[in-house]
Amino acid sequence: MSSINSRSMDQIKIAPSLLAADFADLGKEVARIEPHVDMLHLDIMDGHFVPNISFGMPVITSLRSRTSLLFDCHMMTTNPDVYFDELREAGGDLAMIHVEAISDPTAAASKARAAGLGFGLVLNPPTPFAAVEPFMELADMILVMSVHPGFGGQSFMPEVLAKTESARKWVDEHGLCVDIQIDGGITPETARLAGQAGANVFVAGTAIFGADDPVAAIKRLRQAIDGR
Ligand code: DX5
Ligand code: ZN
Repeated sequence: MSSINSRSMDQIKIAPSLLAADFADLGKEVARIEPHVDMLHLDIMDGHFVPNISFGMPVITSLRSRTSLLFDCHMMTTNPDVYFDELREAGGDLAMIHVEAISDPTAAASKARAAGLGFGLVLNPPTPFAAVEPFMELADMILVMSVHPGFGGQSFMPEVLAKTESARKWVDEHGLCVDIQIDGGITPETARLAGQAGANVFVAGTAIFGADDPVAAIKRLRQAIDGR
């Protein structure tokens, strides 16, 4: 497992979202991209916090035996903290939970750490950076959603770029090692824009698993971000 904390600030990382992969062949899909990426983004949806159901712990357990990639678990569930022990048991590494889904981020962070998980907070498109600012020091990563959560294949919302800039400014001014992740509608062009705004971790589902050649697609994303 790659360590959550051994990152240098502003290191570019690619996090393919499994949601766009062939669910009948997940082991093969992951093996193909593993040498070329930094973590695997797992979208866990409960049909309640978001209007869609994806997959849960049994799938994560099965995948854990097939890859050593860091599992970045994007929890789109009501009461996400209830699942922390199970998530760790299944092989999850990083619990990314929506600030809109919890009443006490400090308690949730403690609970995640006690379960042996890394911790991060996620912001829906309308949620301002101010909602997570008081909790930044508790987080390994902040996720700025660039679509409304629940479905892959949506278009990037450029209005979240200003919020990404605010997050980057805060992290740089405080000299903290908090990754800034962007998720939704990521293509080489939107990755470049998000990178310019200060994101350093790029989630891409359709752009990677929907491509004829996922490895070439990852290279195209990295090139676009490097040229920002
Ligand atoms: C949406 C998920 C995303 C999604 C991204 O709720 O959080 O991770 O899989 O898919 P694309 O890259 O297709 O927008
Ligand atoms: Zn996601």
